[in-house]
Amino acid sequence: MKNNEGKLECDRPLIISYSYSGNTHRIAQTIQRLTNGDWSEIYPWQPYPMAFPELLEQVKREVQSGCKPQLLPGFNLPKPYQVIFIGSPNWCGTIAPPLASWLYRNDLSGKILLPFYSHCGGVPCDFRRDIFRLCPRADVREALSVIGDGGEALSEILRKWLIQTGIMESRAFHAG
Ligand SMILES: Cc1cc2nc3c(=O)[nH]c(=O)nc-3n(C[C@H](O)[C@H](O)[C@H](O)COP(=O)(O)O)c2cc1C
Repeated sequence: MKNNEGKLECDRPLIISYSYSGNTHRIAQTIQRLTNGDWSEIYPWQPYPMAFPELLEQVKREVQSGCKPQLLPGFNLPKPYQVIFIGSPNWCGTIAPPLASWLYRNDLSGKILLPFYSHCGGVPCDFRRDIFRLCPRADVREALSVIGDGGEALSEILRKWLIQTGIMESRAFHAG
């Protein structure tokens, strides 16, 4: 498929996720299955602490300072994807720093970004706003929030969201 500028684009979406304890990856994996997309996980170079008090303290510090942690070498948009799903847990009311770092390091101008996040019903967040601040030239759509890993309802929640966004119909994605 070609875009308005005549450049070749990949028909499949890309799914990028950061997850500390697995919930966001489960959501990402299900999106991958429903859309037949390509999925890539991101990891910080320096793993986060295992103990919750230290983890929380570090995350608060990073969020307050706008820290963009170094990532393990991985995915840097080798294909011209037009639609990118991006997910992380809600950490202290915003996107997790590793995802912020990935967004900051990749030029996503003109891409359609579909944010999703896992949370526990604590401090609310506005993923769309926070991602738009990092990617002001992208078309950032409304974010999907999922409690924990979404449980048994996850596929249905995602299917409805994909239809709402228009992504499921406008593209030749496979419904799994
Ligand atoms: C450091 C830290 C901060 C968190 N902050 C929030 C928060 O502000 N609001 C919320 O609803 N959940 C918060 N959570 C809960 C996670 O978003 C939730 O457990 C999520 O399902 C974890 O996803 P993951 O398994 O992909 O890491 C926080 C968890 C951690 C570890």
